[in-house]
Amino acid sequence: MAKRKTVFVCTSCGYRSGRWLGRCPSCGSWNSFTEEVEISRVTPTARGVLNFLSSGSQPLPITQAEEEVFVRFPSGIEVLDQALGGGLVKGQVILIGGEPGIGKSTLLLQLSHSLASEGKKVLYASGEESVNQIHLRAKRLKALNENIFVLSETVLEKIEEVTQEINPDILILDSVQTVFSAEIESSAGSVSQVREVTYRITELSKQSGAVSLIVGHVTKEGQIAGPKVLEHIVDTVLQFEGERGSFYRILKVVKNRFGPAGEVAVFKMTSFGLEEVPEPSAFFLSERNTERAGTVIFPYTEGTKPVLLEVQALVLPSVYSTPQRRSEGFNPNRLPIILAILEKEAKIFLRDKDVFVNIVGGMKVDEPGVDLAVALAITSSAKNKPIPPEVAVFGELGLTGEIRNVYFAKARVDEAKRFGFKRILVPKSVARELKDPDVEGFLHIGQLLEAVF
Ligand SMILES: Nc1ncnc2c1ncn2[C@@H]1O[C@H](COP(=O)(O)OP(=O)(O)O)[C@@H](O)[C@H]1O
Ligand SMILES: [Mg+2]
Repeated sequence: MAKRKTVFVCTSCGYRSGRWLGRCPSCGSWNSFTEEVEISRVTPTARGVLNFLSSGSQPLPITQAEEEVFVRFPSGIEVLDQALGGGLVKGQVILIGGEPGIGKSTLLLQLSHSLASEGKKVLYASGEESVNQIHLRAKRLKALNENIFVLSETVLEKIEEVTQEINPDILILDSVQTVFSAEIESSAGSVSQVREVTYRITELSKQSGAVSLIVGHVTKEGQIAGPKVLEHIVDTVLQFEGERGSFYRILKVVKNRFGPAGEVAVFKMTSFGLEEVPEPSAFFLSERNTERAGTVIFPYTEGTKPVLLEVQALVLPSVYSTPQRRSEGFNPNRLPIILAILEKEAKIFLRDKDVFVNIVGGMKVDEPGVDLAVALAITSSAKNKPIPPEVAVFGELGLTGEIRNVYFAKARVDEAKRFGFKRILVPKSVARELKDPDVEGFLHIGQLLEAVF
């Protein structure tokens, strides 16, 4: 049965050690280890393996394995259904991460309402708010429906009991950090607890076929607490992002066992809740000032549906001996590399300049296709010359200044063309393949800058 031992767990990445460590050997975080009492138990996955072994299953030739048929049903929030690959799947476990205040509870309450209106029974278990607070919020969002049952509870065993009793189609847990199992000694929010809670909810979901949506707060490093341990348990991971003070909210599919990952759904936060934005490209383009230097359009995608984003840069003389380099939405570690390539390969010298980069709208872009847009926006600001408004650009920048191909090139070009961009600057191989008069291909960053300025 259960075995106890003390372990030290890195709260940032979930790395485990028998003793306390000052610095995590896995993720490099300092002072991130906490002591946790651990009761080892058979995990659902391990249990699945045991069942598999004991049932005496035989290996099958892969050609004979039958295709699993997922039972999908729409959530009623169209942009979400699209991003999820066609709706929710029976028994699916979804983790929704995001900073406090971004709109996770709002989204889930609206989702509850839309599902309840279709006759689904929803159990909304909250460890964060009282039943009354949830009621008030639901009233403001016009999300009251008698098929939604609310439970204000932090003890996992109680939530399990109620779930078994009322047998909902949808189980919402808000949030994984506030709920704890009485069987485990460490406190709510610890790595052991969030993992235990997620395992148990997953088990419940797989048994009953209920779709579970679990809220996870994100730490300041941008990771869901105990990220590695949670992300591999659940079927789907959604990340809710947005800029402080902005109305845009972007829901990104980070992982999806039942559909493509990398898809995005865009919402607008209003006092009546989240509104769907079915045409995000148009939305992001609407506020652009094409007369200024330092802005360019970049067709972003990590999935099947590209979105046109505005990349901005601001370059100005630095008053400090160490110039500032900052970026929002673009990997800050990549910025000095882009600057080094610009200096060596295109003779753009920015050593004594402050450089700021921003992806407008709060999207965090973590794909190499954005490199060229960043390099172009920086050069535009440095030269104080606007980039022609008909230009859109994508491609990865190599260390020798070479321009490399990226995924989904055709889809990116199509999206740019759909919005009337007449000069789409791309890696040479893409242009060769597409043979489109609106598409210009380049091998080297120097060539590309020459063509634009
Ligand atoms: N009374 C209100 N009127 C208008 N907007 C509100 C109101 N209360 C909350 N909001 C909006 O909802 C957001 C909080 O969303 P919430 O779903 O509670 O976030 P999370 O669950 O991710 O912490 C706030 O940032 C604000 O934009
Ligand atoms: Mg909340």
